[in-house]
Amino acid sequence: MSTAPRSRSSLWKGKEKAESNDFDDLDPVITYRTLLAQNLGALDPLRVIALCDSDAFYAACEMIRLNIPTKPLVVLQWQALIAVNYPARKFGITRMMKIQDAMKLCPELVVVHVATYQEGDKEPQYRENPDSRTHKVSLDLYRRESVKMLQLYKDGLPEGTEIEKASIDEAFMDLTKPIRQILLERYPYLSQVPDDAPMGLDTPLPPPPPVAWEHLGTLVPIDPSKDPSEEENVPSTWHDVALSIAAEAMEKARQKINAELGYTTSAGIARNKFLAKLCASYRKPMGQSILRNAAIPNYLKPMEFQKIRFLGGKLGESLANEFDVSTVGDLLSISLDDMQRRFGEESIWVYDILRGIDHTEVQAKQAVNKSMLASKNLPDGVFKLEEGFPWIRVLAAELALRLNEAREVTPNLWPKTIVMHVRNVKAQPTSRSKQAPWPFVKEVTVDVVAAAGNKLWKELIGTDVQTPMKVIGMSLAFTGIEGVETGLKSIDTFFKSGVKRPLDSVEDADTENVPEPLGAGSGQRNISKDPTTFICSRCGQRLTLPRSATRTEEERRAQMQKIQDEHEDFHVALEISKEVSFAERGRKPESKGKVRGEEKPKKKRRKESPKGIAKFFNKLS
Ligand code: CTP
Ligand code: CA
Ligand code: CA
Repeated sequence: MSTAPRSRSSLWKGKEKAESNDFDDLDPVITYRTLLAQNLGALDPLRVIALCDSDAFYAACEMIRLNIPTKPLVVLQWQALIAVNYPARKFGITRMMKIQDAMKLCPELVVVHVATYQEGDKEPQYRENPDSRTHKVSLDLYRRESVKMLQLYKDGLPEGTEIEKASIDEAFMDLTKPIRQILLERYPYLSQVPDDAPMGLDTPLPPPPPVAWEHLGTLVPIDPSKDPSEEENVPSTWHDVALSIAAEAMEKARQKINAELGYTTSAGIARNKFLAKLCASYRKPMGQSILRNAAIPNYLKPMEFQKIRFLGGKLGESLANEFDVSTVGDLLSISLDDMQRRFGEESIWVYDILRGIDHTEVQAKQAVNKSMLASKNLPDGVFKLEEGFPWIRVLAAELALRLNEAREVTPNLWPKTIVMHVRNVKAQPTSRSKQAPWPFVKEVTVDVVAAAGNKLWKELIGTDVQTPMKVIGMSLAFTGIEGVETGLKSIDTFFKSGVKRPLDSVEDADTENVPEPLGAGSGQRNISKDPTTFICSRCGQRLTLPRSATRTEEERRAQMQKIQDEHEDFHVALEISKEVSFAERGRKPESKGKVRGEEKPKKKRRKESPKGIAKFFNKLS
């Protein structure tokens, strides 16, 4: 994928002319051959992708659970607001705010703390004032609703639509295939090359009919300086027709979700994933935005590139400093050669993205999460072996519940491995994990999971009381979860018969259950004196918050905390994927006595993290 765009770019414009003809592929000639071709993939000029994101998702889940459809509501996780519904946003309440300040802005605000587990709970409970020292948050409700929503997309969108879950509340849809079908049904004259077509199959299609955009969503303007009514008269292209068919389908699917589950959503519809995601927030909430190819240049050019999520951060800053530029339009003057000279071969993806080009595929993943991870930050630290056991029970309860719930949808799900990960700041290395094959027990109870967890914990920490310890985070995960084929009498006979399980692909850790922000008074971990910088003690990476990103000191701290938590999630996910790929290479896990730390050289591991746009799309948002 990394080399294809390069040849395409140089083929189409030639490197020297890179500055002049940006956006030169907006209205490609579509011939009968193109239309009748089956698998043009990401280079299909009729490609249509949608991204659908749920409005104020966690808040919406709580509104529906509590049956309070219109009240201003926020969701709390310890002291942090993690979701703010749109009625509350009208009062000026934002995610960065302190709950006390939010209450001042809106005294009738409904405040819901996310459900939590404490030791002994088989299921999470809603509590008014849970304590982060004894409780662990549960995002199970949101996960369950997320699964339902994804299922409805699958049921509601035309057959052949590829759907990729992108985060807990959003999904990408590739509608290219079904749209082609619909195009040919609606305009049957397109399926036959006319006898008098001068170039046979390579004859361009006749001009398309005008598109009636009303009721299909909001059009991103082609020329924002003009009256919007004039936009409707701009001649359409066959790609516009394709977009309008997608918009119809998306409108229907979104209505279905609203009618059956109560959630409102916003969608972006465009020619690729990047643009679909970007324009999904053009009109929010309850909006559906359509970005025609002709509208791409004026939409992208004035955009501050550092606001584009994956061009923010370090890369964005380097670009801004290196070239003294701030908008996408400014960056267009940098030639591909220049960019690659400064940022390496791979920066072609930046070059392309700035021109609205993205060939990333929508990848329908398995409906089942192949890993389940429960984690807990322990800001006060765990100093003794015994102090870990209650937490392991809490983590075990969550995992047991999640696996059993998943089995209600997909019976016979089975994890291959249980993995424990701990962060012990008194040990070297501070981050360690250990895995064991999951025992073939019939019922996955809290006791069984906790017993396996306890064993790993003892092995990781050691039973020697003299060993210094301060554990500030631990997680327990099931990995390699897969459905055992049906038709076998029972899971036990399956394993006893020694049938080989199919190899699965490397899976992602389910890090949706983000470790909670640290409790009050303990937010200094890893944060240097400068509140906008954080140096990871594990990999040495320096993460900096752009000054412009947030305004007050408070906001900066909160933002920094988030960046830090995300970074730590990344390490946990990395650990787990390492464990998984290890198992998948068919090697035996390390001998029981030996503790696995972070033994790979740092450079190598850094490479494993997805880069650029891949990282952007892999990220939960
Ligand atoms: N979330 C979170 N921490 C973050 C980002 C998101 O806990 N750093 C949770 C939020 O609680 C949210 C859900 O993930 O409800 C989805 O996030 P997002 O789509 O970014 O925001 P929404 O709350 O859904 O709001 P919007 O309507 O703007 O999409
Ligand atoms: Ca959302
Ligand atoms: Ca989202």
